[in-house]
Amino acid sequence: MKPKEIKKGIFQVGVTDWNIRDFHGYSTESGTTYNAFLILDEKNVLIDTVKKEFSDQLIDNIKSIIPLEKIDIVISNHTEMDHSGSLPAVMHRVGENKPLYCSKMGEKNLSLHYQKNWQFHPVQPNETLNTGRYTLTFLETRMLHWPDSMFTYLNEEKILFSSDAFGQHYASQYLFDDQVEDKIMDYAKKYYANILLLYSPLVQKLLKQVTDIGLQINMICPDHGIIWRKDPNRIIKAYHQWSLQKPIKKAVLIYDTMWHSTETMAEHIVQGIADTGTEVIPMHLRKCHRSDIMTEVFDAKAIIIGSPTLNNGLYPTISDLITYMKGLKPKNKIGAAFGSYGWSGEAVALINQEFDAMKISRVDDGLKIQFVPDKKVLDQCSEYGQKIGQLIQKEDA
Ligand code: FEO
Repeated sequence: MKPKEIKKGIFQVGVTDWNIRDFHGYSTESGTTYNAFLILDEKNVLIDTVKKEFSDQLIDNIKSIIPLEKIDIVISNHTEMDHSGSLPAVMHRVGENKPLYCSKMGEKNLSLHYQKNWQFHPVQPNETLNTGRYTLTFLETRMLHWPDSMFTYLNEEKILFSSDAFGQHYASQYLFDDQVEDKIMDYAKKYYANILLLYSPLVQKLLKQVTDIGLQINMICPDHGIIWRKDPNRIIKAYHQWSLQKPIKKAVLIYDTMWHSTETMAEHIVQGIADTGTEVIPMHLRKCHRSDIMTEVFDAKAIIIGSPTLNNGLYPTISDLITYMKGLKPKNKIGAAFGSYGWSGEAVALINQEFDAMKISRVDDGLKIQFVPDKKVLDQCSEYGQKIGQLIQKEDA
């Protein structure tokens, strides 16, 4: 897409990645964008770059506004390569003697990535930079979501360049929140659930800090997806709510199956939960992507996991999901395990161990059956579902 002016003299010069469907293991069903911003002033400033394979497009976008050698300062809000990958190409054209502003950890991490002798200017938290008519303030946001992450705030226009925070993996011809439908919040929620969930306590701290210093925000420009200009407070409020990790009365039942026995159990547990009037979402691991599952797990009260026993262990897709989920540290959940087995039957106990490791309180020791469930077992599954549903209803969710 061509660069677009978001305010007089301030341009989005980043690129749209229409075709990406897997972003390091996160499913991006409508692609994404890598946003970068050019501010024209007495000193011209570029904030962030794009993935390496889009370097030429970024350079063409900038060149359609000013020659790259007219950029005086480059700011790197975040080292991850979807935003820094084009730095070598950009710095080469801007001039390697020009200052590269970043956090202290940014200097370290950029050096480890690119081994370049750039003129780093590591900023202090709240340090300011005057560019002529504008003043930029650098806000430290360490671990949101990398140690090097920071925000840049344009004081006079009250624009927050927020790096990954408040982003969405969403590609569109449109640039702003008021040009897209409400479903953008679903993309923002998926992004939070899969990228930021484990840092929720830091999100709360950051939002408090922003409130305490009375930071006025007219526009939030994240490095992915649309820009929040109509109601930036909407996404801030959503982050506040999401970071509390207060679950709703909902169960997510995640399972895989070899010969449909665990699946049949799943169907009856789901029906049992539904019988109590509780929302329940069954998710077959070979039909649903782990990042979509995490989006549902994110606000659910109960996580129910069903696995056959394979070679004395968990079914591989279940291990994958649990590894992913464990890293994101979901809080305030209850868990239940079930599954069919042939002769050794370790899977349910292994899921229970994982629940314990994640500090997810277990409903009980779970439900396991040998080979194919008969009518009696299926009734047990329905009752198990009802028990879980009733617990969810009782919980202060
Ligand atoms: Fe979009 Fe952490 O990179």
